[in-house]
Amino acid sequence: MSKTILITGSNGLLGQKLVHLLKQKNQVVATSLGSCLISDQSDFIYQSLDITEEKNILQIFEKYKPDFVINTAAMTNVDGCEDDKELCDKINVIAVNYLSRACEKFNSHLIHISTDFIFDGENGPYRENDQANPLSYYGLSKWKSEQVLQQSNCKWAILRTIILYGTAENLQRNNIVLWGRKALKDGQELNIIDDQFRSPTLAEDLAQACYLVIEKEAIGVYNASGKDIMSIYEMVERMADFYQCDKSQINRISSTTLNQKAKRPPKTGFILDKSIKELGYKPHSFEEGLTLLEKQLN
Ligand SMILES: NC(=O)c1ccc[n+]([C@@H]2O[C@H](COP(=O)([O-])OP(=O)(O)OC[C@H]3O[C@@H](n4cnc5c(N)ncnc54)[C@H](OP(=O)(O)O)[C@@H]3O)[C@@H](O)[C@H]2O)c1
Repeated sequence: MSKTILITGSNGLLGQKLVHLLKQKNQVVATSLGSCLISDQSDFIYQSLDITEEKNILQIFEKYKPDFVINTAAMTNVDGCEDDKELCDKINVIAVNYLSRACEKFNSHLIHISTDFIFDGENGPYRENDQANPLSYYGLSKWKSEQVLQQSNCKWAILRTIILYGTAENLQRNNIVLWGRKALKDGQELNIIDDQFRSPTLAEDLAQACYLVIEKEAIGVYNASGKDIMSIYEMVERMADFYQCDKSQINRISSTTLNQKAKRPPKTGFILDKSIKELGYKPHSFEEGLTLLEKQLN
């Protein structure tokens, strides 16, 4: 049966994938801060929405009475969150509270996206109930947002993910695969860290995980990342193999040389048993993801 699904942050990478996936069989109300970046605006409704304005959230809920709300909107610039902690709290924590209150009032099911950065990276890969210990303000804000839901009375699911990659229209933010692909193909020299380990996640896989939560009306915390764990260096090396580029252009470096404002966890990755068993989640391998991306880019 068709459902009404409200998506926040619909201009972002995950947001755009969700609009395309869900509009086929549902009434999708896509919202984001700016004007709509998706060129084909048939078959869904678009409204600008700043999720830090509770009054505006309530107006949209009043108008559409969504069955499900998928909150992809966030301040996602990890170093930027160290610079502007107040704004980070407003978007990543306080606004989640507004959304959860609206969901409670309108009996909507809230699906919220969180991150591997809630962990310190000392004992990855992680299960859903492992102890969080964020190293960065971004990670802390997402951990606080999870607690907002844990303490709320609305129906909720949290999907935790890791390094999203993929392509969408007019993206405001680059991702490592798009950036690495271009640099490799242009023959540029790349300095890539070899001391951080992650499971890169195809944006379509995470969108599919959201779909499965809706289908099963699932409640609780679920890991939803790619299935392969690799160092960032290995990720770029595997991309060079895939694109048949010269690997000698990739230099190994240590993350200490980057002097990034926010600390990053050394080794994350997720154990996906719960989402595979309970949701039927089936992520692509990294190379399958690159193959799909190549089709989209050509
Ligand atoms: N990207 C990753 O590697 C990664 C890893 C782990 C977890 N996550 C989580 O996954 C989710 C989706 O990530 P993503 O990469 O798709 O994000 P993204 O591409 O950075 O998009 C986020 C969107 O949020 C919107 N936004 C920002 N502030 C807003 C506000 N006040 N009100 C309404 N919308 C606002 C922006 O909309 P406009 O474009 O309209 O300004 C932006 O398009 C986020 O919750 C993120 O924390 C991401």
